[in-house]
Amino acid sequence: MARPGFRGHPAGPLLLLLLLPQALTEGPLVFVAVVFRHGDRAPLASYPTDPHKEDVATLWPRGLGQLTGEGVRQQLELGRFLRSRYAMFLSPQYHREEVYIRSTDFDRTLESAQANLAGLFPEASPGRSEATWRPIPVHTEPVTEDKLLRFPTRSCPRYRELLKEATEAAEYQAALEGWKDFLTRLENFTGLSLVGEPLRKTWKVLDTLICQQAHGLPLPSWASPDVLQTLAQISALDIGAHVGPPRAAEKAQLTGGILLDAILANFSRVQRLGLPLKMVMYSAHDSTLLALQGALGLYDGHTPPYAACLGFEFRRHLGDPDEDAGNVTVSLFYRNDSTGLPLTLKLPGCPAPCSLGRFRQLTAPARPPAQGIPCHGSHEPATPAATVVPLLSGAVAVLAVLSMGLGLMAWRPSCLRAWGGPV
Ligand SMILES: *[C@@H]1O[C@H](CO)[C@@H](O)[C@H](O)[C@H]1NC(C)=O
Ligand SMILES: *[C@@H]1O[C@H](CO)[C@@H](O)[C@H](O)[C@H]1NC(C)=O
Ligand SMILES: *[C@@H]1O[C@H](CO)[C@@H](O)[C@H](O)[C@H]1NC(C)=O
Ligand SMILES: *[C@@H]1O[C@H](CO)[C@@H](O)[C@H](O)[C@H]1NC(C)=O
Repeated sequence: MARPGFRGHPAGPLLLLLLLPQALTEGPLVFVAVVFRHGDRAPLASYPTDPHKEDVATLWPRGLGQLTGEGVRQQLELGRFLRSRYAMFLSPQYHREEVYIRSTDFDRTLESAQANLAGLFPEASPGRSEATWRPIPVHTEPVTEDKLLRFPTRSCPRYRELLKEATEAAEYQAALEGWKDFLTRLENFTGLSLVGEPLRKTWKVLDTLICQQAHGLPLPSWASPDVLQTLAQISALDIGAHVGPPRAAEKAQLTGGILLDAILANFSRVQRLGLPLKMVMYSAHDSTLLALQGALGLYDGHTPPYAACLGFEFRRHLGDPDEDAGNVTVSLFYRNDSTGLPLTLKLPGCPAPCSLGRFRQLTAPARPPAQGIPCHGSHEPATPAATVVPLLSGAVAVLAVLSMGLGLMAWRPSCLRAWGGPV
């Protein structure tokens, strides 16, 4: 008997009690937080030998970096999925006390949030009669002040130290050295000088190619599947350095742990004050989801595809509350494929659904301490980088300042964005 079959059935919870004792902990939903990536977008840039560079205005009428029509449809679909999942939880109509939507201050995430809401709320849906149509408000913060969804890594000395440690590690340097010839050839193919910021520029080339491929454009002959795969591996190395070991939890305190902490704080506040708020929605980037996955210990080398959605569901515990664990559980779902059911993710060290107490305890090292985000540097004298090949000499310094993003995804090829870049 499938779980979704119980939804809306008047005797649902009773049947669960009688027939599925292992499901006792999955009580009624009390609060939801979802974080999603924007939909399909245009590439962020071009490169000198790009065969399609003259056609930017026709290929991408909204401009580089903007959401495409396909991206709008992906978000509409995600909104409809959320409506069906929460049909019994959310009111049919939007109520401002019940749902709060926040987006980063980028056209593509703002537009994604709006398209998503058009799928979630009937009054905002396309095709609605003019007399009854109503848009839903989306809140944002200027990019430079957004502490929640765009992490202050550029201005954070401690994060730069941690990144430096990762990029100076022997394995990282060895991998980079192994790609030296590849990067030299890439410069020749693209007509782009990679000196200064090789990984950043390499990533931009990959982004352009993937976006073009996703939209059925022919790629230049040098851009073979092997070359794309190598570009993706270079990106994965970069992502791993940003959200993975060494000191992944400490990096998370400065990035994804901030958002994780905010989500837990959002729920606590609702409980403490007895607020009617049921759902918070965060419209953001692949870098946001990657950082959150890093904070949860769930980054596994896959980059979130367009409209990928990570959800936190807080439920009332139906059995006896166990002492320190409280009476609430947290379960995580990840929807990275619109054709199937979302995946249920398990926080490492806690069976799903996880009690809120245990969830808090396990994620504490990845969340910033109560005193604030620990961005100050350690004042240790910086150890000079050992031997770095000339082409890559800027890599470490540059990585610390900008960079990040991407990877290849399976849902459909899609574009990625840089972690700290302004575009
Ligand atoms: C790449 O190398 C070939 C052969 O050395 C040269 O003819 C060509 O101009 C180079 N292309 C670019 C864009 O630098
Ligand atoms: C959620 O938490 C963040 C960080 O504490 C806060 O800025 C935001 O206002 C909260 N949102 C709601 C809807 O309570
Ligand atoms: C959990 O229990 C406390 C105290 O018994 C109660 O105030 C709170 O509302 C409960 N929370 C939920 C989600 O049931
Ligand atoms: C979805 O995410 C899971 C877990 O990271 C991964 O194994 C799977 O390949 C992803 N699927 C798609 C379509 O991206």
